[in-house]
Amino acid sequence: MLRTHTCGELTDKQTGQTVMLCGWVDSRRDHGNVIFIDLRDRWGKTQLVFDPENREIHKGAEKLRSEYVVRAQGVVEKRPKGTENLKIPTGEIELRVSQLEILNPSEVPPFEILDHSTVSEELRLKYRYLDLRRPVMFSRLRDRYRMTKIVRDYFDEHGFIEVETPILTKSTPEGARDFLVPSRLEPGSFYALPQSPQLFKQILMVSGFDRYFQLARCLRDEDLRADRQPEHTQIDVEMSFVDEDDIMLTIEGLVSRVIEAIRGVRVKTPFPRITYQESMDRFGSDKPDLRYGLEFVDVTSQLSGTSFKVFEEVLKQKGVIKGFKVSGRNFSRSDFDNLTTFAQGFRAKGLVWMKATKDSLESPIAKFLTPEQISKLKQAFDAQEGDTLFLVADTWVVACTVLGALRTNLAAQLGLVNRSQELNLSWIVDFPLFQWNEEEKRMDAVHHPFTAPQVRDILFLEKEPLRVRARAYDIILNGTEIGGGSVRSHQETVQKQVFRILGIGDKEAEEKFGFLLRALKFGAPPHGGIALGLDRLCAMLFGVDSIREAIAFPKTQKGTCPMTEAPSKVYPKQLKELGLQIKT
Ligand code: AMO
Ligand code: AMP
Repeated sequence: MLRTHTCGELTDKQTGQTVMLCGWVDSRRDHGNVIFIDLRDRWGKTQLVFDPENREIHKGAEKLRSEYVVRAQGVVEKRPKGTENLKIPTGEIELRVSQLEILNPSEVPPFEILDHSTVSEELRLKYRYLDLRRPVMFSRLRDRYRMTKIVRDYFDEHGFIEVETPILTKSTPEGARDFLVPSRLEPGSFYALPQSPQLFKQILMVSGFDRYFQLARCLRDEDLRADRQPEHTQIDVEMSFVDEDDIMLTIEGLVSRVIEAIRGVRVKTPFPRITYQESMDRFGSDKPDLRYGLEFVDVTSQLSGTSFKVFEEVLKQKGVIKGFKVSGRNFSRSDFDNLTTFAQGFRAKGLVWMKATKDSLESPIAKFLTPEQISKLKQAFDAQEGDTLFLVADTWVVACTVLGALRTNLAAQLGLVNRSQELNLSWIVDFPLFQWNEEEKRMDAVHHPFTAPQVRDILFLEKEPLRVRARAYDIILNGTEIGGGSVRSHQETVQKQVFRILGIGDKEAEEKFGFLLRALKFGAPPHGGIALGLDRLCAMLFGVDSIREAIAFPKTQKGTCPMTEAPSKVYPKQLKELGLQIKT
C-alpha cells in the first residue's frame, strides 16, 4: 500500500493516527527551522510539518521542490490554536512527518499550478498535464463527467439505449468540410469522419430501436472560434413515433436535471418557444440572448411620407425602418460614429441615432421629420427624456441582422448581462427549410437535408420553397445555440423532393445517400431527434468563455495540439502505402 489516505480527507477525527500520504509538492515554506510543505493530490491539500529535531527528515524536506512526487508517513496532529485554515477541509490538522520518500523529482515547471493562471493558452496546452493539475481544471472535468453520467442515467430511465456508430464512414452533411481518411486497401478511396451520427441514428430508427442516444464525437473541418472545435461531443438523440413536442419535452427534462445538478438552480419548464420569424423581428438573431431587452420596434408606418431621402428610397423598395431604444446612457458623437462603422460592417447603409429631449428628438435627420412624426416615433419607442434611439432602414433581413449585431454589441459594451448568474433557456422553432445561397446560386438546407417540411407548407415546396417552414428547433441558452434537431422526412418521396430543390439530383443522391434512401423504403417509422453540444453546454454552465476550458485536450484556434504537435508530417513510406503524393 502506498498510501492510507488521500490529501483531502484527514480531519480532527484522525488526530493521533499514523498515516501515509502521496502527492505533489504544492508549496514549501521555511518558518525559521520548521519546514511546511503543502502536499496536493486531486482530493485536496494537506500540510506536512518537518521538525529540525529530526535532522535526516528535515534534510530530505530541504531537497523538495515544486511538483516533486513524494510519499510521507507521520502522525496526524491538531494544528496549534490560531494557525488553522478553516477554508479547507484538512485545515485543522497537519502531518508531522517521520518518513519521507521522493517517488519522482520534477523539472522546474514552466508555470505555477495556480487556479488563477495568467499564462498564455498556448503554453497551458503545451504542458496540458500540468495545467490539468490545477484544481479548477480537475473540477471542471469532474463536473463534465457528472453531466455525462446524469445524461446516461436520464436516458436509461426513459428507455433509450446508447449505440456507438462508426467513425470511419461516409460523408454526413452538416454544412462543414469533411475530414478525410485515405484507404490503404482501396487506394484513391477515402473514408469521411462523421460530422454527426445523423444518418446512422435515422437508420437505427428504421431498425426499430425506437429510442437511441449516444455521447458522440463529431468531426468537422471548419474555421474555429471560441465556441467551435474540430472535434466536439454531442449528446445525440433520435426517437420514433414522435412529434416535435415529444422531443422538446424530453430534452427539457434532461437539461433542467443537468442544470439543477451542476448549478443548483431549478429552471422553469416548459422553455418559451419563439418562432424564427419573431426572433429575427424582435432581436435580429436566431439565437437571441433574452437576458436583456433592447427589443426592436418597427416604425415603418410611423415614418411613411418621410422627406428623408434614404428612408424614402427604402420605403419605395418595400423595405422597413426599425430600431431599438437604449435608456440611461449618454452617447457621445464619437460613440455614434463608431457604432455607425460597426453597423456598416454588417451591410448597413448607415445608422440613424436620435436622442429624446423633453419635447422633441435631437438627431442629424431631425430636420426631415414633421412634429407629428417625431411624436409618433417617441410614442412607438416610449422614449423618455435622455433615451437614445438607433434606427436602420433596409430590407427586412438586413435591418434585422444589423440591429441584431448592434444589440449584442451594445449589451456587452454597456454591461447589460450578469454573466455568472442567470440561465435563460428558449426554443427557436419554425425555421425556414431552405435558404438562398447567393454565392453559389442555389438553395441550402437551413438545418440539414433530412429535416421534414411542415405539413401545412408542403404545397409550396415546388413553387415557393423559401416559404416552406421546417419541422426544426434549436435550443438556446443565454444567446448560444446549445442544440438543434428536427423531425425527419421518413418517406422517400418527400426526401427526394427536398434533395431536388437542394440541387441534389437523383444520381448524386444515390451516390451520397443511397443507403439512407434504400432504408427509407423498408418501412421507416416517423422519427426525429436532436443533438446538444456537450462542450458548449459545459462551458456555459461552468461560466467560462471558451469551450476549450471544458475539454481535456482541445485544439488551438489553428486546429493544432501544442502538446502532441498534431497535425504532423508522415513518413514517405506511409504515403506510398496509401498511394498518396504531397504536391506542395
Ligand atoms: P448541429 O450541427 O446543429 O446538428 O449540431 C448540434 C450542436 O452541436 C454543437 N456544435 C459544436 N460544438 C462545438 N464545436 C463545433 N464545431 C460544433 N458544431 C456543432 C452545437 C450545435 O447546436 N445531426 C444534427 C442534429 C440533429 O438533427 O439531430 C447536428 O449535428 O451546440
Ligand atoms: P446621409 O444623408 O447618407 O449622409 O445619411 C444621413 C444619416 O443617415 C447618417 O447618419 C447615416 O448613417 C444614416 N443612414 C444612411 N442610410 C441609412 C439607412 N439605410 N438606415 C439608417 N440610417 C441610414
